[in-house]
Formats: sequence, structure tokens, C-alpha cells
Amino acid sequence: MDSIIVKGGTALSGQIPIAGAKNACLALMPATLLSDEPLTLTNAPRLSDIKTMTLLLQSLGAEVTSMQGGRVLAMSSHDLNNLTADYDIVRKMRASNLVLGPLLARAGRAVVSLPGGCAIGARPMDLHIAGLEALGAEIELKDGYLHAEARGGLKGAVIEQRFASVGATENIVMAATLAKGTTVLKNAAREPEIVDLVKCLRAMGAQIDGEGTDRIEIQGVDRLGGATHRVVADRIELGTYMIAPAIAGGELELIGGSMDLLPGFCEKLQEAGVTITQTNEGVKVSRANGRVHAVNVRTEVFPGFPTDLQAQMMALMCTADGVSDLEETIFENRFMHAPELMRMGANIDVHGGHARVTGVERLKGAPVMATDLRASVSLILAGLAAEGETVVNRVYHLDRGYERVEDKLGACGAVIERIKGE
Ligand code: EPZ
Repeated sequence: MDSIIVKGGTALSGQIPIAGAKNACLALMPATLLSDEPLTLTNAPRLSDIKTMTLLLQSLGAEVTSMQGGRVLAMSSHDLNNLTADYDIVRKMRASNLVLGPLLARAGRAVVSLPGGCAIGARPMDLHIAGLEALGAEIELKDGYLHAEARGGLKGAVIEQRFASVGATENIVMAATLAKGTTVLKNAAREPEIVDLVKCLRAMGAQIDGEGTDRIEIQGVDRLGGATHRVVADRIELGTYMIAPAIAGGELELIGGSMDLLPGFCEKLQEAGVTITQTNEGVKVSRANGRVHAVNVRTEVFPGFPTDLQAQMMALMCTADGVSDLEETIFENRFMHAPELMRMGANIDVHGGHARVTGVERLKGAPVMATDLRASVSLILAGLAAEGETVVNRVYHLDRGYERVEDKLGACGAVIERIKGE
């Protein structure tokens, strides 16, 4: 297994290109299952999760051709020949469950393995199931698989979600595009990835209103056509690299990024004393000399502070001037990075959904272990500010959601390298 070594203490300067969004692409790719015409995605990120989704779609009979070094995905599911999403693929990546809605809508039937456990929380699918059942599907759990059927096709309905789940919103919206009649989804998720998905579905001929608000209305149509769609920028990659100069010093410009994608996060970073400017090309971030201020953070659904940036923010607060309280409200077990940061000399007290971080002058390099995608990058960020060398192990977690971190940060002055494993 690869590991990454970071030597801290170098201020950063330069530009980093922000890739297309993993979490948008993982919802956009299953949209191909809704039509027998080609769907092409441009600005696709080069990530192991995209490869896993490609394998899943190919296992269902879709054609997925990766071009221009993975930046363009040409897809067609003209000849779907299998309606079962296998456990062996689904257990590798939960987002595989986003084929359930499209398969059900297009083929009237789907068999999708339940993803099973996850490091950051239980992550049940009850909201996906409740929404699709409201559209008339019959869903039964057998041998760890959801067996779903829509005899006579799906029918529009009014659905009010208990929680604004991103995945359930995506599955329900995709399914409703081919349902008979009107669907109104209340308490829908408002994340930019949902807005991007709806933009693509509309280009395929879907009739949808209200994306980006908590009420989405879908008029079902008989069939969808093809389209070409550019994947929106990755706001979590953007936020991660905005923290890099805040934690290590210096200034970075993040090309292709937009502050509009991260309202709640930008507010907190500015409160911590970090300077953020929207430029024509992207977002410029710098930190004046001295330590950032400690700020309290509470993770929330969009437009609030994203849970996927909580670990990175904790790394920053480890050397802040003062005490900060980080509250995680979305996932029940998302502080696995705290004990690793404490190995680097951080002062963190975790109680339930709260982590109290007392800033220290300086972190110290140490060998640490990545536990999940965002935790792994928070350890790399901490390494940029630490004295000496930090070795981050199990970076396969990182490769699921970040393209070539060591090259992007290395090009801006960071002393960082990947050690290839056996
Ligand atoms: C998406 O996951 C993202 N993944 C996650 O990013 C992100 O953390 C999350 O949204 C929240 O923003 C992708 O888009 C592929 P949810 P998703 O359904 O759709 C509970 C990353 O690091 N819930 O909004 O799975 C659930 O347990 C990943 O890139 C139910 O209870 O998130 C959780 O506590 C990690 N029942 C909360 O809602 C359900 O049926 C949020 O889940 C569905 C969800």
C-alpha cells in the first residue's frame, strides 16, 4: 500500500487546477441508465471511485468509454442486459446505490446490494426506499439485496423527506423523470451536485423545476434522449486546497473554483482570519502572518458548513490561536482523524458529536493512519504545518477522491512525495 511523506514548514505559492466533482460524477454516470441514447460527460475527475462506477455500469450492460486520459466519459446503455448491482462492487463504493432509481424507472425492475457498513456511520437507505415506494415501487430485502419492482411503471407522488439526504434526493429525482405524472419532492437536498445532476437530466429532456431549493417538482416524460454535460467543479477538493495556505502559510489560486459553491465554509474561514478572493480564474486564498483564530463550526446540509470539510477544518484548528468547538451533525462517527492528529501533538477532546480543539503552537510530524477519504487528506494538511516528517499510511482512501495530491501540492512548494507500496 502506498504512503505519502510530508515535510512541514514551507509556505505555499502558485496555482492548483480544481477537477470535476467526484460526488456529482457519481450521480451523473448512473443517469445514462435512464436513456437508450448516448450520454457524454466532460471535465470528469480521474479517481478510483469513477473507475468503480464504470465497472458497475459495464456489469449492467452499459458501454462506458474513457477518453482524453479519463476527462471524457462516453456512455450508452442501449443494451442493458443485467439488472443486478453485485455486492462485490457495491461494498467497495456506497454511491453504487445510485443505480437503483434509474434502473427501476427504465426497466421496471432492479436488484441492488445494500452497501453494508461504513467507517463514518451506519448510512441506512430507508429514505431511498421510502421515496421509491411512494412512486409505486415494491421493494423487498432478500439475502442482502434490495429487490425492487414497479409493475406498470412508476407513478408521480408527493414525497416529504425526513432528512434532506443527498443520495435519496438523487435516486428519487432520477426515477421520477420517467414516472407517470408529477412528483413533488419536499425537503430535498440542495447541494450543488444535485443542481448539476438536474442540469444534465434537463439536457436529456427531463422536465424539472426547483433544483437548489428544498422543493423539486418533476413532470414525468415517456423517454429521455442523450446529452453532453460538463461536470461541475469539485467544491470539496476546492475547500481542501483553500485550507492548505491557511495552515502552511503563503498564497494559492485555485483554478476553476467558485466561492458560491462553499458559502458556509468561506464564512468560517474568513472568520478565522483567512483572506479569500474570487478571481476571474478561480479563488485566491492567503493567510497573514501569525496563527489563525479559533472558530466554532457546526456541519450542516448545503448551504451550511459541509461535513466533507470538517476533518480538514479540524487540522487547521489544531494550530489556531484559542479553543474551537467542532460539531458534526451529519454522520455519527466522523472524528476518526482526531486520534491521528493527537499523535502529531494536537490537543483534541471528543465527546459524542463534539470535538473541542485547543490550538497548539506547532504540530510534530509522526507516522499516522488514514481511516477514510477526508480524514486522510486532513492528515496531509496537518503534515504541511508540522515540524519534521509526517508519514500518512493507507492512502488508497485518498485516491478515491483526490487526483495526484502530491503533484498538485508539490507544484506549489510543498515537500511531499508518494512512496509506492508492494
Ligand atoms: C453524499 O453521501 C456524499 N457522497 C458524501 O460524501 C457526503 O458526506 C454526504 O452526501 C453529505 O453531504 C456522495 O455524493 C457519493 P446523505 P450520501 O444521504 O448521499 C442519513 C465524501 O467524502 N441517511 O445525505 O450517502 C445518513 O446516514 C462522501 O465524498 C439516512 O438516515 O449522504 C447520514 O447520516 C462521504 N437514511 C445522513 O443521512 C437514508 O436513506 C446524510 O446522508 C439516507 C441517508
